[in-house]
Amino acid sequence: MTIKVGILGLGMMGKVHFDTYAKLKGARVEAVCDLDAKKRQGDIGHGFGSIDLSKRKIYTAMEELFADPSLDVIDVCMPTYLHAKCSIAAMKAGKHVICEKPMARTSAEAREMIAASKKMNRKLFMAQCIRFWPSYVKAREIVLSGQYGRVMTARFCRLSGLPNWSWQNWLQDAEKSGRCSLDLHVHDVDFIQYLFGKPKSVMSRTGGLRKGCMDHIITSYDFGKDQLITAEGAWEYAWGYPFSMTFSIAMEGATLDMTHDTKLTLYPIKGKPKDVKVYAGDGYHHELGHFIECIRMNRDSDVVSPESAMHSVRIIEAEEESARTGKAVTVRF
Ligand SMILES: NC(=O)c1ccc[n+]([C@@H]2O[C@H](COP(=O)([O-])OP(=O)(O)OC[C@H]3O[C@@H](n4cnc5c(N)ncnc54)[C@H](O)[C@@H]3O)[C@@H](O)[C@H]2O)c1
Repeated sequence: MTIKVGILGLGMMGKVHFDTYAKLKGARVEAVCDLDAKKRQGDIGHGFGSIDLSKRKIYTAMEELFADPSLDVIDVCMPTYLHAKCSIAAMKAGKHVICEKPMARTSAEAREMIAASKKMNRKLFMAQCIRFWPSYVKAREIVLSGQYGRVMTARFCRLSGLPNWSWQNWLQDAEKSGRCSLDLHVHDVDFIQYLFGKPKSVMSRTGGLRKGCMDHIITSYDFGKDQLITAEGAWEYAWGYPFSMTFSIAMEGATLDMTHDTKLTLYPIKGKPKDVKVYAGDGYHHELGHFIECIRMNRDSDVVSPESAMHSVRIIEAEEESARTGKAVTVRF
């Protein structure tokens, strides 16, 4: 059975999803929808290239996409402030939903999405891609195996230039995107939660505020254990500054380190460092393949639940409060 997908939003991420489905077995992009005429012709712009839409249905209004009876799932690649509105409308129209991260602009909106999914009995899959990224998946497996003892410290880092490609520049509008703390840093927050569970409290610092936005945030997460878990996210660097994501996890028996090229190395307390083989393919392929398989089998995801994606938004809200007040903030889920 081939799952028929309608992509809503053909920007940078809509194109990544379109290209990913083309390589996936069991799914086909049947229709796309975007307000922008150039994008509806397949020209994504901003150096992201083009896609061939000659054999797809093309809609301008999202209501027409939702009403298309041939579609099983709507893949929401829209600006963050529209995630809740679009996902809820799609589920009300009877479609399952795959929605890009962060789940929503606020945790309250994310809660409404979960309520709609339950009420309409439609599946809601949150595209927290780092949970599927091969080096992160392997690192999590090694940590959870316990073979190197407990984690003493872990440090996650994600740096980027200020994004300049988005539709009507919504990414640079704090009200719409949440800027760095919600849009970029959410990847590490979500992975930390996936690996260590829900933190009791957070202590954050920010600085160099541009228009009051937290474009560089450093947080320490308290899990009630004798360990130091931190994440740093920044996108206030000049455009052209190379994107990087890295981490180091120090366990009692070894340190795991992922460098900017996602190469994973294990440094044992005794013995020589060794390269760690990770799964082939990229995180987007594993992620969308997993969601499509869940839809085919009529089951929920055991990797990312909507509740846990909502918790990531909630943690970031607590981080922002902590950075604003200078105090540790208990995270109430
Ligand atoms: N997982 C990742 O690695 C990753 C990377 C980048 C972005 N994202 C997420 O993907 C989402 C989209 O980001 P992006 O960078 O692709 O943004 P973008 O601005 O490039 O694309 C958004 C698209 O939505 C379209 N659009 C806006 N309003 C519309 C409407 N009412 N009807 C139809 N189309 C409409 C725009 O024309 C545009 O093509 C965001 O939530 C972002 O956080 C995820």
